[in-house]
Amino acid sequence: MFSEVPIDVEKINPEDLDKEMMRIAIMAEFDAINMYEQMANLTDDNDLKTILLDIAREEKIHVAMFDTVLMEVDNEYLKVMADYSLARKG
Ligand SMILES: [Fe+2]
Repeated sequence: MFSEVPIDVEKINPEDLDKEMMRIAIMAEFDAINMYEQMANLTDDNDLKTILLDIAREEKIHVAMFDTVLMEVDNEYLKVMADYSLARKG
């Protein structure tokens, strides 16, 4: 899990800063999902397992939130996601 933003802000084009932060946020959310699901698998306490899996699901919602906003500002990403999704439907 990230405790600080893993980018060198000085190397980033200012117009790309928000997009880069969203991508990092998505990575952090995926990392959190893995952590909570791993912890849920490790515990024998059913109440704790339920809480951890509920939190993991909330993190998936956070991924969707960041991903949605990222697609709104990164047209190339939106096109790739749309094209791939349509291709998967065959
Ligand atoms: Fe989150």
